[in-house]
Amino acid sequence: MDNFNFYSPTQFVFGKEREGEAGTYVKKYGGSKVLIHYGGGSVVRSGLLDRVKDSLTKEGISFVELGGVMPNPRSGLVYQGIDICKKESVDFILALGGGSVIDSSKGIAAGSLYDGDFWDFYSGKLVEKALPIGVVLTIAAAGSEGSGDSVVTKEEGMLKRATSSDLLRPKFSILNPALTQTLPAYQTACGATDIMAHVFERYFTNTLEVEITDRLCEAVLLTMVKETPRVIADPNNYEARANIMWAGMVAHNGLVGVGRSQDWNSHSIEHELSALYDCAHGAGLAVIMPSWMEYVYKHNIMRFCQMATRVFGCQMNFENPEVTAVEGIKRFRSFLHSIGMPINFEELGAKEEDIPVLVDKLGLGDGKTGGFVSLTSEDVTKIYEIAAKAEI
Ligand code: NZQ
Ligand code: ZN
Repeated sequence: MDNFNFYSPTQFVFGKEREGEAGTYVKKYGGSKVLIHYGGGSVVRSGLLDRVKDSLTKEGISFVELGGVMPNPRSGLVYQGIDICKKESVDFILALGGGSVIDSSKGIAAGSLYDGDFWDFYSGKLVEKALPIGVVLTIAAAGSEGSGDSVVTKEEGMLKRATSSDLLRPKFSILNPALTQTLPAYQTACGATDIMAHVFERYFTNTLEVEITDRLCEAVLLTMVKETPRVIADPNNYEARANIMWAGMVAHNGLVGVGRSQDWNSHSIEHELSALYDCAHGAGLAVIMPSWMEYVYKHNIMRFCQMATRVFGCQMNFENPEVTAVEGIKRFRSFLHSIGMPINFEELGAKEEDIPVLVDKLGLGDGKTGGFVSLTSEDVTKIYEIAAKAEI
């Protein structure tokens, strides 16, 4: 196991009707003038926005609001949010929604205490200060409620880029699984795919002797394989929703990845798809991740056998382990298909002829990525080609 620091300072407030405590937690973490930030309307329709406003009012906390965050959030709204925060002397941002709203909030939080362009933080500059953030989560997916990461798309050139800082970790995140019951099945499945992908990015490691994190990873993956079909069949299954919601947090706050090298190439390769086609990030991952696995499994066949046997219930073929490795990848893709995810370019709405554009935007040039297997532009092209034609 490698040396590591683990820092996860967020207070998680989990369970039914806990959003009614939003005001209490904003107050606890020093907020007196809040920007409530939300998406395209689901929190208005569900009544969540009004309930949260009531809770702030009850604590005597004033607020301004900014809705309209799109999935794959854009820089334009982040600039608007920064303007509002500066003009209104906002001292706390409350995100109501999923990864897109939380990530937009993080961009606003960093940009509001900075004189330059907030995009600098998405181009390599380290965040030095940020307004505190709170979250009321409405979809189990990105894990932004427990991470220090934020992913935003710059309209000019449709560049989807990330930043990461412990300063962007939410002060508190309210997780009420019942709030996810209004999600369409497709969106639920996209979230489940993203959660599994966050684990796989850490599971495929070159670090040896990491039994504890291997087993934690497998616990999250097994939970997702069991619970996702249950919520697709019955969207109101609170207990299954609860397990998925906590799995989404555990998958991405860093816990299952400590002390081991990680990959993250599937995420980078996917981000170009959601930037170009504005598809859901989870749907893009469903197309990319099994294809990446097919391309790299020979690097460590036994690790893929471990996934196949422990997560997807394959029988180990001791005479020819490669058969087991390949079967595990096949079962992963079939699982994704069974929950309604696309598995190739056509089903995603992507075009094979755009592959050179996707590779170019990824920007590796003559260089290489890091990760489980280091990739060149040529490797990435081949992964997109596998993804374009993938079948069950
Ligand atoms: O905008 P509204 O009307 O709220 O609708 C949203 C949106 O259309 C809807 N939705 C959310 N909760 C709902 C609901 N509809 C009905 N009932 C509810 N309870 O779902 C749609 C998708 O929401 P979004 O926030 O985009 O989903 P997700 O959480 O998957 O976030 C995706 C974004 O997060 C980034 C992705 O790249 C993508 O931009 N990621 C962020 C990460 C992070 N910050 O740590 C890591 C991830 O790997 C990921 O890259
Ligand atoms: Zn993700």
